[in-house]
Formats: sequence, structure tokens, C-alpha cells
Amino acid sequence: MENVGEVVGETVSVGKYASKPYECWFYLYSKFADRIELMQSGFVYEVLEGIEGDRCYGIVETSTIETDQNILTATLSRRRGLSTTAIKLRITRQSGLDAPVKDKCKVKIADPDIVKKAYNIPDEGIPIGIFALPSGCPPNAPVVKLKPEYVLGKEGAHLNVGGKSGWAKTAFALVLCKAILSDPVYSQNTTVIAFNVKADDLLWPDKKNPLLTDEDKKYYNLMGISPEPFEKVNLYAPESSDGEGVNSLREDAKPFSWEWIDVKDQLHYCIAPEDWNERLEAILVDLAAEDAKEFREIESLLRRWLNEAESPAGRGWAHGHHSATIRKTLRIISSGIMQRYKGLVCGNSDPLGVKDLVKPGFLNVIDISRLRAPAQRLVIGKVVSDIQSFLEKTEERCVVYLADELNKFAPVKAKEGPIAGIKAILDDIAERGRSIRSILLGIQQYPSQTSNAILGNVATSIYARMKPTELDASIYRGYPREKKLMIQGLRKGWVLVDHDEFNDLVLIRFPRPPCAQSRPQ
Ligand SMILES: Nc1ncnc2c1ncn2[C@@H]1O[C@H](COP(=O)(O)OP(=O)(O)OP(=O)(O)O)[C@@H](O)[C@H]1O
Ligand SMILES: [Mg+2]
Repeated sequence: MENVGEVVGETVSVGKYASKPYECWFYLYSKFADRIELMQSGFVYEVLEGIEGDRCYGIVETSTIETDQNILTATLSRRRGLSTTAIKLRITRQSGLDAPVKDKCKVKIADPDIVKKAYNIPDEGIPIGIFALPSGCPPNAPVVKLKPEYVLGKEGAHLNVGGKSGWAKTAFALVLCKAILSDPVYSQNTTVIAFNVKADDLLWPDKKNPLLTDEDKKYYNLMGISPEPFEKVNLYAPESSDGEGVNSLREDAKPFSWEWIDVKDQLHYCIAPEDWNERLEAILVDLAAEDAKEFREIESLLRRWLNEAESPAGRGWAHGHHSATIRKTLRIISSGIMQRYKGLVCGNSDPLGVKDLVKPGFLNVIDISRLRAPAQRLVIGKVVSDIQSFLEKTEERCVVYLADELNKFAPVKAKEGPIAGIKAILDDIAERGRSIRSILLGIQQYPSQTSNAILGNVATSIYARMKPTELDASIYRGYPREKKLMIQGLRKGWVLVDHDEFNDLVLIRFPRPPCAQSRPQ
């Protein structure tokens, strides 16, 4: 870092600039007063207090150039012969001591090692980017890493990326997946399952990114990751409705299709919320207990039940269900699921199997972008519940679910029914996943609209540029105003990281993903 080790100022503890535990003020010596880069939030200093057994680090929280001439500032500027440029530091002490910092202690620019100590950035771990200040990465900036046990369990888990559309959220998630799957230890037991829910930005993980710049490659080099696309990739998509191929832009994706037996326990996820009621739930439970393998068998069974109910002897009832419920169920299954989702169900392809999806070191992409929302819910619900049952029986695997538009599947509020159902399984991952190694890597534009259970259990929140209205939400209440303003102005490729183990929010710079995000020309 520039002028590393140089003493640039002195702590002051007077009036409104009084030191308190965890915060103190210092002023820059007059010869540094023009060095505005020293006032950037996130800049790190060491305060030379000289207390034995302790070292005192300060991260710039805010700074001020006072213009009102009250007695105190006037006196200060006369005595010290400089304008009152004061910098507020957030203090962490190596010893854990939480006493205020003394007055008139020298303050020096920290070296990269101290930067890591001040933020508590570990030496080893999963690299997510390069430490940055708002003006750019300082020379010799450290690589920011996360301890794997705080990303993939068991100490902490889950990561959420929030930000405006087009501000490199998916790009960040892809870089993180590359970092996880490049780790020689973690790639041995970890697999990523990505749901491509919109457009095609997750469909080209095995293709080179033609937009990579030399700067991006430099970052990859620093992070110790290859800028080459993912090597171990599996692409899956539902069979197309005519049974002739796959319902995806990636024509080489492996098609899959499910029958009644595969999805009978998850079918509720794809019912329209307005159709959902207890009577429908009851009949679906009874149908699941029937000895049937194919949707066609269930369709015939329902027709038989309907005939029975409508016969004089049935008096409107059959097998404990009213004819109206049976008719509605027949409509939902026959002209709803079987026809509208033809290909995803009732096709010729094999079902999507758990064994294929948990191969270590692989990035599995399931393309559901061409499916309607209810069918997307069915795929996510089915895959997640199968994988969860698998993970409960083994200690040796870790599954990372990359879920875009997470707030659509796990909104803050969901009434009973299919959306509440899918939200419940995602909440369950957030709550229990840490111990069974089932990890959420969520992406969404508006984190404030995402389930509290998820946000509450996330060990790392990543913020790309966001709208002020989003930052007004209560979940951001704990952040200083300066950081919120910073988030509103972040450039592409820059994010602010809030991680359980870090002492403060860390600004990082990350490269473009190692793979294409749109169809290569
Ligand atoms: N590290 C980076 N530096 C600069 N630009 C980047 C970086 N990563 C991605 N981009 C660019 O940002 C654009 C948007 O990226 P991306 O699709 O990941 O955004 P997004 O936030 O996921 O958008 P959406 O919400 O629409 O899905 C792309 O054009 C991409 O090339
Ligand atoms: Mg995206």
C-alpha cells in the first residue's frame, strides 16, 4: 500500500471527537491534509498506543472537514496549524480490550497484513475477490477469503447476493462457484446445483468468457484460480413437449422427464395458489398412496372415481371425496400438469437422478428458464427434497444450490399453499443446511423481499449496487449511512461483503466470470 508504515496523524479525544470503545477520531498532519485518499472509508490504520500485549487497528468509518468555527475547532486548528480534517475509525484490538483509545497516539498506514488483521480476513480459505478501497485496489492489496467452514458449514453457511438488475450478481456467484470447485480439498466432496430460472446466463459454464480483460486475468492470478471455464459440467433440461429433444437453448443438455411415481409427493408445489385448498390436499395425499406409476393411470383412476361419485349410488361422493373435488383434481392433473408440462412429465427420458447430481467437483445446471413458474417450483421442490434425503444419510457430501430470483421462491410472506411449500423447504435448508452440508447461494434484486429465515441464517451477504428504496428497508438498519451511499454508487465488478467473521463490511473487486454469460458467437 502507498506509504505503508508512514505515520500520518494523531488521535484526538476532545468534545464530540471523544474516543469511545470501538471508535475514535484522529486528525491528519498538515502535510497529509491534501491526501484525500487517506480519508476513504475502509482504509486501515494502526494506532500506536503502545499497550503491551495489544495492537490497535482502525478502519475508516467516516471523515469530516469542519467548516463551522466553534471554539473547540478554532482552538484545535490554531494549536495544530491545520484545517480540522478529522477521520473516524472503527477500532478493533488484538487483545479484545474494549477501552477507548488514548489521546495523541500516532496513527500509521497499515500494511496488507494489518489490513487482514483489522478486518479479520483469514490467510487461507475460499477467495472471493481483492480488497478494494472506493478509489480502487491499493498496491499489494490482499486477497479476500472466506473460511470454508463459514460458507459450506459447519460453523456457518449460505451466501446471498443482492443488487440491481445487471450489476454482476450472477457473475459474482459464478466466480464463487469456480473458487469452491477449484479448491483441491473442497472439490472432493462438494457439488453445485444451479437452477437457471431466467434468460440463459447460467447456460454456458463450459464456454470461455470472451469478455475477460487482462485486469480480470490479473485478479484470477492473485486469487489463485484459473480463468478457464468450468471443466466438470452437467447440463440438464426437461424433455421438450414433442419428445424430440430438450426444452432449452442448450440443445446438448441431457433431457429428463418425470412420471407420477417420481413426483407424486412434490406435486403440490406446482398447483396454482388459487386452486389450493384442504380438499385438494386430501385427495392428492390419497392418490399418492395408490399403487400407480404413471400419470395416465392416475388420470383413469380419477375418471373412475368421478363416475362412481356421479352415479346414483355415489350421491356425489367417492372414496371420501366430493365429485367437485375429483373433477377439479382431474382438470389440474389432466389438462393442467399432463398437457401443459408435457415433456417435464410423461416423456420418454429418464428421471433426473440424485446420483447424477451429487458427483463431487461438478457444476450441474438445470435449465428451467422455459418452464412456467409452477413447473419451476416443481423442479426445485423435487430436486431439493431428493437431495436433502440423500444428504441426511451421508456425511461426505456438500451440495451448494445456486438459486437466482430467490425472493420469487422464498418471499417474505407466503400464504399456505404451493409457494409456502417451496419457501418452507428453502427455509429448511437455511436453518438446518449448515449441519447437513446443504448450502444456499441465493441471488436476488431485493433481499428485503426474501424470507427472513433465509436472510437470518446467511453467514455472508454480498451487496452489489442497490436502489436507495431497497436500502431503506429495515434489514439494512444496522449499516452506517456512508456504506449505504457507497452501495448506491458501486461500479460493476465491485461488491460490499458482510461476513459473520469479518469485523466490518469489506469492499472487494472481483473479475468477470471465467465462463460466458450469453451464447458464444
Ligand atoms: N467483474 C466484473 N467487472 C465488470 N463487469 C462485469 C463483471 N462481471 C460481470 N460484469 C458485467 O456485468 C453485466 C451484468 O452481469 P450479470 O448478468 O451477472 O448481472 P446480474 O446482476 O446477474 O443481472 P440480472 O439481475 O439481470 O440477472 C454483464 O454484462 C457482465 O459482462
Ligand atoms: Mg443475473
